[in-house]
Amino acid sequence: MAFDTTRSGRRPRVLSVIGARPEIIQAAPVSAALADVADEILVHTGQHYDASMSSEQIHATRLPEPDHNLGVGSRTRDDQLLIGRLRLVELMQRERPDVVLVRGDTNATLAGARAAAELGIPLIHVEAGLRSYRDDMPEEANRIETDVLADLLCVPVASACDTLRREGVGGQIYLTGDPLCDLLQTWRERIVPERGDYVLATVHRNYNTDDPGRLAQVLECLGRAPCRVVLPAHPRLTSRLDFWNLALPDNVEAIAPVTYPRMLELERGARAIATDSGGVQREAYLWGVPCVTLREETEWTDTVELGWNTLVGVDADRFAEAVHRPSPLERPPIFGDGHAAPRIAALVAKLGAASRDDREPDSAAEMPR
Ligand code: UD1
Ligand code: UDP
Repeated sequence: MAFDTTRSGRRPRVLSVIGARPEIIQAAPVSAALADVADEILVHTGQHYDASMSSEQIHATRLPEPDHNLGVGSRTRDDQLLIGRLRLVELMQRERPDVVLVRGDTNATLAGARAAAELGIPLIHVEAGLRSYRDDMPEEANRIETDVLADLLCVPVASACDTLRREGVGGQIYLTGDPLCDLLQTWRERIVPERGDYVLATVHRNYNTDDPGRLAQVLECLGRAPCRVVLPAHPRLTSRLDFWNLALPDNVEAIAPVTYPRMLELERGARAIATDSGGVQREAYLWGVPCVTLREETEWTDTVELGWNTLVGVDADRFAEAVHRPSPLERPPIFGDGHAAPRIAALVAKLGAASRDDREPDSAAEMPR
């Protein structure tokens, strides 16, 4: 798609927001595609700040260094939303972007969406339309409000378009595919599967970690794996295990969070993946590794319907059965063709150019004075 980026003599300016690990990781292909069509101001809210969650991931995925870090850090949800929004509003007033891009469902996502809405700047939501229908997930509230505020919704999987149409959101809906699929396609050639017989696990959802009884059940599940479990531990999990003084089962080896390429090696070589992560469920599907999801529900329902993902909640018997489930034969490309990022960039450029031209009318079209 070609765009008039010259009418007012400058390319559209997009302010794009990252904050937590999945946004940082998934920003790389979109930033690379944006470089061809727009000027990106990359803003890190600072929600995640440990090197292993942020700077090492930026480096590993070759994302450009963010132009700004707003230092929001760890706080209550309300404070992350409030401080994130205030700092983003102030920055947007200075940077004057034509369009704002947010992705996913974190507090950084919603803070960015609210800031753009407050200033009347067109908003694009990448990874729109996903739902868990679970009230106790902050992510559910974040994505529903962001989808309502968005002018343009980039949807990773066809079923999420149906969800948005059913809800009657006002913005324009585009099925772009999932930038995570682009990312995996880029890395596929370089990733050598880790050797050995192991299950890879990640756990960080609020409702799995914040209640000691439930967290003990999660550990009981992992203890029923028929082999070693490699657990790159999210800082939230580490802090709750320490706080509740919960011991890991003997077969579970907790390690520090790993960089994205290392995570891909671990995913690709695993017998199965046990997780409550949205990104890891999709990556398991994309690699063709069976996934057992430690949740009662998922936003990524297609992976379940196609037989690659089994929802076991925290039921240890169901977990033990699910890790032995054979893989289906079919694995259709539900997350797109690996070209989501250029589609998203084209949409950003188009919306950004229209917004820019509204604010900066073509001087040649003005009456002579
Ligand atoms: C957030 C997102 C979640 C996403 C996850 C990705 C929200 C509501 N949740 O959850 O959707 O799946 O990121 O990983 O935005 N901590 C550190 N160092 C860090 C970051 C966090 O120690 O760099 C610890 C702190 O104790 C903090 C806790 O982890 O209180 C939770 O962090 P927070 O960013 O609030 O939420 P996540 O659980 O990471
Ligand atoms: N990931 C990683 N290192 C780890 C654990 C996860 O690079 O130690 C990657 C994983 O491959 C996926 C992303 O982090 O791309 C998922 O982020 P997370 O699970 O934190 O959040 P969610 O996807 O649930 O929002």
